[in-house]
Amino acid sequence: MCGALAAWNFLREKANVQVGQEVLVNGASGAIGTAAIQLAKHFGARVTGVCSTSERELVESLGADNVIDDTREDFTNIGEAYDVIFDAESTSSYRRCRGSLAEDGVYLRTFPGLAILLEMLWTSRVGRKRAIVSATGLMPISKRRVFLDEVTKLVEAGKMRSIVDQRFPLERLADAYRHAERGRLRGTVVVIVGDAR
Ligand SMILES: NC(=O)c1ccc[n+]([C@@H]2O[C@H](COP(=O)([O-])OP(=O)(O)OC[C@H]3O[C@@H](n4cnc5c(N)ncnc54)[C@H](OP(=O)(O)O)[C@@H]3O)[C@@H](O)[C@H]2O)c1
Repeated sequence: MCGALAAWNFLREKANVQVGQEVLVNGASGAIGTAAIQLAKHFGARVTGVCSTSERELVESLGADNVIDDTREDFTNIGEAYDVIFDAESTSSYRRCRGSLAEDGVYLRTFPGLAILLEMLWTSRVGRKRAIVSATGLMPISKRRVFLDEVTKLVEAGKMRSIVDQRFPLERLADAYRHAERGRLRGTVVVIVGDAR
C-alpha cells in the first residue's frame, strides 16, 4: 500500500490529475508505478507507462493506453507532450523532461535532492511549467490516513489491485529488505505479520 499512498499523493494532491489529461509514468512496473497507472486511469487521464521489455504486458494489463520500452526508446526524445510526467523511479530529471511537458505541465519526482528543490522553487515563481518533489512518508499521519481510505475504497470496489512481487514472513524481514534493495521489482514486497495470508 505504501506505493499506492505515494501515487495518490503525487497524482491527486500535487498534480490534481483531470479527465482527458496526458499522464506519463516512468518506472511503471514498480510499487509506485503500478498504483500510479491505475490511479491516473481512474482519474480519467490518458496514460503512458515507461518500463522495460518484460514488464510491457503487466503495465498494459493495469490499463496503460500506451507503453514505452525504456530499453529501446527515451521518452524525453519522442516528441510527445504530457500534462504530467510522474518520475516514480526518479531516473530522469526536470531538465530532461521540461521539453516533454505541455505548457502548464508538471514534473513529479519521488527522490529528493538539491537540483529538484531548486527547480521546485524556481518554477513556482517563473514560467508555467512546474517541478515538484514530495515525501509522502513525512506527511502527517492524518493526511496519509485519508490517502489510505481513498485507495482502500478503490480496492474494495475492484477498481484497483495490488501487484505483489514477493511475500515474506516477518521472521525473514532481512531477506525482504535484501530483495527490495536489489531493485527491478514488479510491484511491491509484502511482509506478513502473524498468520495473515
Ligand atoms: N517521495 C515519496 O513519497 C516516496 C514514497 C515511496 C517511495 N519513494 C521512492 O520512490 C522510488 C520508487 O519506489 P518504488 O517502490 O516504486 O520502487 P520499485 O518498486 O523498486 O520500482 C522500481 C521500478 O523502476 C524501474 N526502473 C527503471 N530504471 C531502474 C533502475 N535503474 N534501477 C532499478 N529500477 C529501475 C524498474 O522497472 P523496469 O524493470 O520495468 O524498468 C522497477 O520495477 C524509490 O526511490 C523510493 O525510495 C518515494
